[in-house]
Amino acid sequence: DRQPIVAIDGPAGAGKSTVARKVAESLGLIYLDTGAMYRAVTWLVLETGIKTDDEPAIAELVSQCDLKLTNSQVLIDGHDVTSQIRSWEVTDRVSAIAALPSVRRFLVEIQHQMGQKGGLVAEGRDIGTNVFPDAEIKIFLTASIQERARRRQQDLISQGQTEVSLSELELAIEKRDRQDSTRSLAPLLKADDAIEIDTDKLTVEEVIAQIVGLYRKNQ
Ligand code: C5P
Repeated sequence: DRQPIVAIDGPAGAGKSTVARKVAESLGLIYLDTGAMYRAVTWLVLETGIKTDDEPAIAELVSQCDLKLTNSQVLIDGHDVTSQIRSWEVTDRVSAIAALPSVRRFLVEIQHQMGQKGGLVAEGRDIGTNVFPDAEIKIFLTASIQERARRRQQDLISQGQTEVSLSELELAIEKRDRQDSTRSLAPLLKADDAIEIDTDKLTVEEVIAQIVGLYRKNQ
């Protein structure tokens, strides 16, 4: 007996975080950013200097780390890594780390614990297919590669970074999507029963309203 779960999956830069956070806010549910968990582990691997292909060492590190997620902060082994996990370096390496079975096993277990009672909006790549396959509402959020690169560029500009070109961003996003969709364990995939929302021509508010509407209709 648990509260409903909203699963939001999709490729990089489709706006999942913004949408999931606001949907959770307006429905009074917990927001769970699973990408932040893979990013935090990647940060720790880079920080400790372990080679990103040394799976036994990474498995050991992950099984012993202390990972805490709140609505606004990510802490790993006592370090507040909320902003560092968004760096170019972490973003570039995270897909390789997220493909390791031991890393996924450990993080999915934490996700299951957090979702035991339901009442959450969980966002990632494998939520509807693998983490919470019985989620009441499943959304697959997409947008064209051009639009996703443009949005990422706007984010970077608003953070004071202007030098990254659209073509560079498109390449990086495509590379990450390819890695995430072709890994053998829990790849990025639309669940059969997920509703696909193409956000190219929609505002954030319209996407949120659509998901909130689906949730309310389901109640
Ligand atoms: O969503 P975000 O861009 O923060 O995710 C970072 C990376 O974490 C993804 O590119 C993917 O490699 C991994 N990830 C995953 N499964 C999830 C969420 C994220 O493999 N459920």
